[in-house]
Amino acid sequence: MVEGYECEIKDMSLHEFGRKELDIAQVEMPGLMALRDEFKDAPPLKGAKISGSLHMTIQTAALIETCHSLGAELRWCSCNIYSTQDHAAAAIAKAQTAAVFAWKNESLEEYWECTLKMLTWPDCDGPDILIDDGGDATLLMHEGEKYELEFEKNGTLPDPQSTNNREMQQVLRIIRRELENGNTKKWGKMLNNLKGVSEETTTGVARLDQMSLKGELRLKCINVNDCVTKQKFDNVYGCRHSLPDGLMRATDVMIAGKQVVICGFGDVGKGCAQAMKAQGSRVVVVEVDPICALQAAMEGYEVKRLESILTTGDIFITATGNKGIIMAHHMAQMKNNAIVGNIGHFDNEIDMDGLDNYPGIKPMNVKEQVDRYEFPDGHGIIVLAQGRLLNLGCATGHPSFVMSCSFTNQVLAQIELWKEKDSDEKYQRGKVYVLPKHLDEKVARLHLASLNAELTELSTEQADYICVPQAGPFKKDAYRY
Ligand code: NAD
Ligand code: ADE
Repeated sequence: MVEGYECEIKDMSLHEFGRKELDIAQVEMPGLMALRDEFKDAPPLKGAKISGSLHMTIQTAALIETCHSLGAELRWCSCNIYSTQDHAAAAIAKAQTAAVFAWKNESLEEYWECTLKMLTWPDCDGPDILIDDGGDATLLMHEGEKYELEFEKNGTLPDPQSTNNREMQQVLRIIRRELENGNTKKWGKMLNNLKGVSEETTTGVARLDQMSLKGELRLKCINVNDCVTKQKFDNVYGCRHSLPDGLMRATDVMIAGKQVVICGFGDVGKGCAQAMKAQGSRVVVVEVDPICALQAAMEGYEVKRLESILTTGDIFITATGNKGIIMAHHMAQMKNNAIVGNIGHFDNEIDMDGLDNYPGIKPMNVKEQVDRYEFPDGHGIIVLAQGRLLNLGCATGHPSFVMSCSFTNQVLAQIELWKEKDSDEKYQRGKVYVLPKHLDEKVARLHLASLNAELTELSTEQADYICVPQAGPFKKDAYRY
């Protein structure tokens, strides 16, 4: 690891390669570049200390440098142990546009240490604003404060061995160590200081919503995922691009003609199914929601229970954001060399623990992020990225253009939270908000020109006739796109 100007990365010598790719990416990120231009004379994030936990890719480097050019100081880590692009981390570390703590193939222990470093600012209580993807940073702070209060009440320390969850063991280990080191108010002070969080993904938003319902959420939150120009673009078209990319880089398998099983036909599942169909595969969807199941059927996909296609499926992809979707006993019934991968946020959609502990199982590493597990009868399956999101583990995630849509929303959310830092009128702690539709339309507008798209304008008569303002918003908030 290279340690220097507040950075822990794999290899600083990759910085030139990272910068070249970043320069090319920025041309494909018109939304971010437009914001840099719009605010160049009055940087709206001036003075803001931003901590970010989001895949440290080339596209994220463009997000970081946009926030930096708008006046922010940043500390960054990845939100997944396999997703960092080391050349992107090196480009940021070299330019010192953020203090970065991330490398590809972190251990779980390293991952949570990086998260701690990303949140810990020298000489102050912590960040002013947070960008989170999946909610791990938000979780660490809230769990930290919970145990600080316990410690203050009765001197008890968290016990990492009290849980079987390997991630939670690391969270508790870190919280315990901070308490033992006398940092007994770290997390409470950090939460008090924090003006808010903008959350990137479906699963992170679900976590925030649960905390809000239970009255446990301590932050003002902006749900970036549900911006139309994020959810209906990144989740759908991003995955449509990066699922086949991940599958092909990992396995080179011919997708045409195969039976591909997509578990979950939400936004991500829809993009995945479309990509697999376009490759000429026979797509089968597994769903629990009758509306999504009917949508899948109307798109021409078969809709089946997992049990019905276990022995015929060639490729199995989980995209539910739920847990326990493909269990070890399911994998044991699959064809020889069936491919199993996940594109949802966490690693609990595929039962990796069950597979690792399956009696007589023989794991064999094929190459980075590709493992073959042989069952006692001699047949095996191929698991991608150890059940973690395969598009970022086995490939480079979504391409720049679609990430520009997502990240333009992220920057707008950060500007909102910073603008409202001293007021509780617009955003209150403990609640989760979405950005107004006119900003969503602005994000889309910023991406049209580079695709040579010509937008038609409403006449005043037409606008009056359909009862919308001539310049938008063009739809009611409830419109589903
Ligand atoms: P979504 O809510 O739109 O879709 C999930 C679908 O899964 C729903 O239709 C739901 O009914 C279905 N589902 C739930 N439990 C199921 C079960 N047991 N069996 C079958 N289907 C089930 O969510 P989304 O926006 O599509 O996101 C899905 C996951 O992907 C989330 O974890 C999200 O954070 C993640 N995500 C990943 C990427 C990526 O780049 N890898 C990008 C965006 C989102
Ligand atoms: N999520 C999906 N693809 C991504 C990318 N390229 N960068 C950051 N986050 C992502």
